[in-house]
Amino acid sequence: MDDTYVLGIESSCDETAAAILKNGEVLISNIIATQIATHQKFGGVMPEVASRLHLENVGYVLKECFEKAGIKPEQLTAVAVTGGPGLIGALHVGVLAAKTIADFYDIPLINVHHLAGHIYANEFAGEFEFPQLAVVASGGNSEIILMKKHMSFEIIGETLDDAIGESFDKIARALGLPYPGGVNIDKLTANQDIPFIRLPKVKVKGYNLSYSGLKSSLTRKINQLKENGELTPELVKSYAYSVEKTFVDQLLDKVFKAAEDYKVKQIVMGGGVSANSYLRKEIKRRGEGTYDILIPPLWCTTDNAAMIAKTGYKLYKLGQRDNLDFQPMASKELSE
Ligand code: KG4
Repeated sequence: MDDTYVLGIESSCDETAAAILKNGEVLISNIIATQIATHQKFGGVMPEVASRLHLENVGYVLKECFEKAGIKPEQLTAVAVTGGPGLIGALHVGVLAAKTIADFYDIPLINVHHLAGHIYANEFAGEFEFPQLAVVASGGNSEIILMKKHMSFEIIGETLDDAIGESFDKIARALGLPYPGGVNIDKLTANQDIPFIRLPKVKVKGYNLSYSGLKSSLTRKINQLKENGELTPELVKSYAYSVEKTFVDQLLDKVFKAAEDYKVKQIVMGGGVSANSYLRKEIKRRGEGTYDILIPPLWCTTDNAAMIAKTGYKLYKLGQRDNLDFQPMASKELSE
């Protein structure tokens, strides 16, 4: 049987990425041009700047991707691209590149949901078992999803306001840590014994989550401490650790309650926040002996195109084909 080569393209936020997956298994190329250094100056992602940088980088990223893979575009079997959700101008760049390649080489085009990509990143760590809970925790999303089979997503819980990653980033900013804040909170706190400041427990119905109330009250408190000249480096560390533990615990309390209620076999994590050291340890500790826990390898937690190629391959096998006139969408339900 002939080898299959699926090209994945991702440009939904601040990473321009391309990857090629051989036979659904072997990642023969995985290129990421990150814009973090540029956005750091603004303390967050500037959408217009992101679109322009994608446009500048996409050609080089694709060229390098093919060179690294050692294959030519005419050998591709299909091209998969993130079609949303994300920053609309940013998405357009990747989608246009994918459509051009698909049309020129007359190969299938596959529209991949960004969150499905984060979930299927777990297939680089192990095999899926159903029923499972898929948990997506990223800069823009905090969702608990029931999956009874491949590509079937039932959202059973989600944040009612801000996402966990976004909340980490805002609190980190108040604490004087650089963007992306979640990463820097983790760097500051990992593997240390740090005094814990007890924060109020947020009560939300069902498996839903809420981060904005605590985020706003804490930001006010931190700003007050700063104004009074009382925010010492020790306090910065303590707040960083306490926020990390409180936010992650809120998420995992809901996840394990849902896992019990729905009698799932497996829990899989995805999204940038699944890189968090405390979360990675704690989910394994809580799940040990009862659930199979899958977490993507660290390199596959933040935005990348390997996960888009992986999801694209799965969809290709399931027969999904998209038309050249599909439009990227800034917001898009996972179950659509
Ligand atoms: O999945 P991602 O790259 O982009 C979105 O699709 O949103 O996630 C980015 C988010 C940011 O909020 C970042 O602060 C957070 O993931 N993040 C982390 C860690 N690494 C990235 N949060 C906590 N600990 C980390 N190690």
